[in-house]
Amino acid sequence: MHFGDMVFRFHLLWLFIFCSAFYLSSARNGELPSFSLSVTQFLGKLEFWNAKGFELGSSFCALFASVRVPPFVMRISCGAREDVHTPKTNTLWYKDFAYTGGVPTNATRTSYITPPLKSLRYFPLSEGPENCYNINNVPKGHYSVRVFFGLVAQPNFDNEPLFDISVEGTQTCSLQSGWSNQDDQAFAEALVFLQDHTASICFHSTGHGDPAILSIEILQVDDMAYYSGSMWSQGTILRTAKRLSCGTGQSKFDVDYNGDHWGGDRFWKSIPTFGQNSDTPRSTESSIKQASISPNFYPEALYQSALISTSTQPDLTYAMDVEPNRNYSIWLHFAEIISSITDVGQRVFDILINGNVAFKDVDIIKMTGDRYTALVLNTTVVINGRTLTIMLHPKEGSLATINAIEVFEVIAAESKTSLEEVTALQTLKKALGLPLRLGWNGDPCVPQQHPWSGADCQFNSTGNKWVIDGLGLDNQGLRGFLPDDISRLHHLKSINLSGNNIHGVIPSSLGTIASLEKLDLSYNFFNGSIPESLGQLTSLLILNLNGNSLWGRVPAALGGRLLHRASFNFTDNEGLCGIPGLRTCGPHLSTGAKIGIALGALVSLLIIVICSLCWWKRRQNIIRVQQLAAREAPYAKARTHLSRDIQMTRHNNHGHSRTAAENGPSLLS
Ligand SMILES: *[C@@H]1O[C@H](CO)[C@@H](O)[C@H](O)[C@H]1NC(C)=O
Ligand SMILES: *[C@@H]1O[C@H](CO)[C@@H](O)[C@H](O)[C@H]1NC(C)=O
Ligand SMILES: *[C@@H]1O[C@H](CO)[C@@H](O)[C@H](O)[C@H]1NC(C)=O
Ligand SMILES: *[C@@H]1O[C@H](CO)[C@@H](O)[C@H](O)[C@H]1NC(C)=O
Ligand SMILES: *[C@@H]1O[C@H](CO)[C@@H](O)[C@H](O)[C@H]1NC(C)=O
Ligand SMILES: *[C@@H]1O[C@H](CO)[C@@H](O)[C@H](O)[C@H]1NC(C)=O
Ligand SMILES: *[C@@H]1O[C@H](CO)[C@@H](O)[C@H](O)[C@H]1NC(C)=O
Repeated sequence: MHFGDMVFRFHLLWLFIFCSAFYLSSARNGELPSFSLSVTQFLGKLEFWNAKGFELGSSFCALFASVRVPPFVMRISCGAREDVHTPKTNTLWYKDFAYTGGVPTNATRTSYITPPLKSLRYFPLSEGPENCYNINNVPKGHYSVRVFFGLVAQPNFDNEPLFDISVEGTQTCSLQSGWSNQDDQAFAEALVFLQDHTASICFHSTGHGDPAILSIEILQVDDMAYYSGSMWSQGTILRTAKRLSCGTGQSKFDVDYNGDHWGGDRFWKSIPTFGQNSDTPRSTESSIKQASISPNFYPEALYQSALISTSTQPDLTYAMDVEPNRNYSIWLHFAEIISSITDVGQRVFDILINGNVAFKDVDIIKMTGDRYTALVLNTTVVINGRTLTIMLHPKEGSLATINAIEVFEVIAAESKTSLEEVTALQTLKKALGLPLRLGWNGDPCVPQQHPWSGADCQFNSTGNKWVIDGLGLDNQGLRGFLPDDISRLHHLKSINLSGNNIHGVIPSSLGTIASLEKLDLSYNFFNGSIPESLGQLTSLLILNLNGNSLWGRVPAALGGRLLHRASFNFTDNEGLCGIPGLRTCGPHLSTGAKIGIALGALVSLLIIVICSLCWWKRRQNIIRVQQLAAREAPYAKARTHLSRDIQMTRHNNHGHSRTAAENGPSLLS
């Protein structure tokens, strides 16, 4: 062995040790899932260094380790008090009992493919229409997020709820009635990029029963998994619409096929025929080349069975229902497993999707270079109608064949709401004691189908973010106070908090929301005075502060505005003054003037006290002198007269400032 070679191997060993250690530690981080209900909470908990470390590590190891290391896996058994291990694969499901949203209860599984878990969590409408699991410490990456539904195991319970599911603010599934009777609808699955080390999975009530969730799986897949060409990006979400294994008897998961863990443990529904007698199933035991390769790691067994058209019906046709006017990504799998087909040109067919040729002259052997070798073709199409039809039309040689079909709905990931505004709304939620029924979980503006009630959203295409431009929380039974943080909703045009029980002062920070046009705080318990800062709101057209406990002068800047088109109402308050229609205020005094007046009053009081003291003392002395005089009669009277005379004289002499009382003691000493 070369010395250079040895050095190289030595380095490789270190790299391997580093990467193993790194991935082990990242796996351990994932071991204790933490859940929280609110966005602020999970952002607060985000472990910064942990996250940074992962980024460094993953970029360092990406080349070396993308295949060798196990993918990040988190499985949650909803409503479980203990972690659960399920047969046959001894799969670990974490309990979620620390999570406080919803109600844990016993579950009924809807299908044999549903994991054998005994509990679920359901979300009564009284807890609000939006409920979320926010899972922390999820490494940045590409994930298959799968949610299994359950039915509450109680007689007379409103079974088969219909609701919507969103992942990271994008709606990925809307349950269709009848789902509980079909195996491949027992779960919802989507391929999503998770960018911020968290996974936010929300369930949205649609008024058809309480969402009931059996399990949540977050399974890492290859970063390039299901790469479909230049339109594909990290903003692409693929919702699994159909995944079929053609010709086999039993539906299977990747794990049942001993598939690679990087495949995301897909469920393959078996389809023995596309229609009556239109095809025949075929299978082989021979091993298949090029099956379990990056980026999708398909199970080899997928290519060991196939459907082949018949000579009476040479076209092989599969049709399924779809949502109209959506884009679908279609993945078709082939391998030549029929021993009579040995060479190029012996089986050539076109593939048509809804009548349009998607692939022309498909010759499996020509394209793979060999028999028993996997061929994957993908294409993305817009479907206008409600049906997707895939037709294989033989051109040359033998009949058409296919091994597996995958159909995904392509969904563009939603832009989220500006983080600063989400944080401000969370503060508001707490400070105002927002009732549970309003929810306010997940993202305020997305999915667009389910915005928070009471928050009006507007999309800012420059910032590529949603912002809040209106708060309509009138008559919602709010109590508590209005926090300063409301001013962090910079884009508000209108605020209506009328008819609640909000106490405390009007935050002066409201004056910084320059875009504010309507401010209705009427019929609350606001006290204190109207902040001067409201005068800065030059766009303000409607200001209703009537029916509160406000007092003091209405800011002059607001009073002046009344001449323009503005409509202000200040009636029914404790003591507002200073504009026409309200009582007149006392003289307007600045803080300095007020301090001056207070000081003046204090000095006067002091002087009065001292004067009274002196006067009293002098009286005491006079009385004493009189008593003395009375004892020394007959001079007494004269002395008294004398003293009074002198007193008067002195008073006349120094008349201007001194008082008699001041001279008293000197006179008598
Ligand atoms: C769930 O089932 C167990 C028995 O398996 C029972 O003891 C328990 O009361 C049930 N819980 C609910 C909420 O129905
Ligand atoms: C899917 O098809 C596109 C071209 O249409 C191709 O660039 C891409 O590599 C294909 N993806 C995979 C995983 O084969
Ligand atoms: C489908 O994809 C095209 C681009 O190929 C895009 O312009 C269009 O908006 C997409 N339609 C939907 C419903 O996503
Ligand atoms: C949109 O966002 C940009 C940058 O974040 C900002 O400068 C602009 O004022 C915003 N536009 C509106 C209408 O809010
Ligand atoms: C605020 O809500 C109340 C009660 O719903 C309504 O009467 C009032 O007109 C609203 N105020 C504004 C400015 O729209
Ligand atoms: C307003 O009311 C709160 C109690 O609701 C009280 O604590 C506070 O002192 C009051 N402020 C003013 C300025 O009257
Ligand atoms: C102002 O509010 C009072 C009740 O506080 C109401 O009676 C009156 O009609 C309102 N004025 C205007 C112009 O809306």
